[in-house]
Amino acid sequence: MALQLTDEERAMHDGAYGPAVAKAMRILVTLGEIFGAERLVPVASAQISGVSYQTIGPAGLEFVEGFADEGARVTVPAFLNPCGMDLRRWREMGVPPSFAELQLRIIAAYERMGVTITATCTPYLAGIVPAPGEHLAWAESSAVSYANSVLGARTNRESGISALAAAICGRTPDWGLHREENRVAALVVEVTASLRDSTDFGVLGVHVGRLARGRVPAFTGIPAATPEQLKALGAAMAASGAVALYFVEGVTPEWRLVSEPERLTVTGAALERVRQALHQADEPELIALGCPHCSLSELQEVAELVQKGLKGRRLWVCTSRAVAGQPAAAAAIAAIEAAGGQVLCDTCMVVAPLAEMGIRRTATNSGKAAIYLPSLGRQVVTFGSTGEILTWSENP
Ligand code: F3S
Repeated sequence: MALQLTDEERAMHDGAYGPAVAKAMRILVTLGEIFGAERLVPVASAQISGVSYQTIGPAGLEFVEGFADEGARVTVPAFLNPCGMDLRRWREMGVPPSFAELQLRIIAAYERMGVTITATCTPYLAGIVPAPGEHLAWAESSAVSYANSVLGARTNRESGISALAAAICGRTPDWGLHREENRVAALVVEVTASLRDSTDFGVLGVHVGRLARGRVPAFTGIPAATPEQLKALGAAMAASGAVALYFVEGVTPEWRLVSEPERLTVTGAALERVRQALHQADEPELIALGCPHCSLSELQEVAELVQKGLKGRRLWVCTSRAVAGQPAAAAAIAAIEAAGGQVLCDTCMVVAPLAEMGIRRTATNSGKAAIYLPSLGRQVVTFGSTGEILTWSENP
């Protein structure tokens, strides 16, 4: 059955709401037809990726400015993924002015379209918490995973372009993870490894993402997990295997299995091999934490760990403006900066132009960042838990 549009959607498509809306609707209709959707569904919000000039380049800048120049305006709450720099402290970061100028043009174009400059991949830590069952058009893969898996909302992994089109039209095609019949696990993962911290959850995510091959994984053997551990797990699975939905028995709100799922056991030895492979070298030039962006408790954990000093090492702790702006975060931020670290908002180690800034070796505690830093950031990775990489010189 072909995609059916309502009268209003047809009018949007045919130009009654102006050229920008017509263009956005054509994008959604084309996607809907490709994926066999029968209708569009209203979305409660859109999270838009494709923000860093490092990742979208001149073509992306031209597209975003062109849409804004045509009069595009979002009609549902819409907010941004991280960009290539802290929008207030980019000079302190060492970002080249030539990059900053182009980055600021992208931000200005999104602002003209009415997009809120949250600049974070953890909008759910910034007060944007979708309700279970709510349809969304979110784009950043870890945010998509968290919204689907931990919050029980419904979103496919949108591209920056389709998320923006959805934000303008307030709709998205009804296919994939919007439909309950697709929110079913075909791979049961029995975890016998003990998971000590978020980094272990990230290593598990890297491993299972590589084995998922398009299937929704359902974990058993994980009796409890913090929100931080779940965001690390989902981010890593999204990076290693494009997993956009997972279940954890007794932890996540949904648990549905196909009648005869494949089964996989994950041992501590298997995770140790993955962990060792992610670690490429010692002696990082930059320690970069906050992938996905740090929560308040993660900021507080770092603040505790840096009390012994950084021994001259450069430290970035990436978070959102919303988390950094909480009164409860002030003491942790002050402690990190007093130790010589920088608490950065709006950006992260993967979408900032590290190589252009002369940085070649970066330490991370994140499975997702450990996958992307070598390819996207041209970095040699030091991998370990937060405690390990902050005290590397003591515990090489
Ligand atoms: Fe977020 Fe950047 Fe990691 S966007 S999930 S901190 S790669």
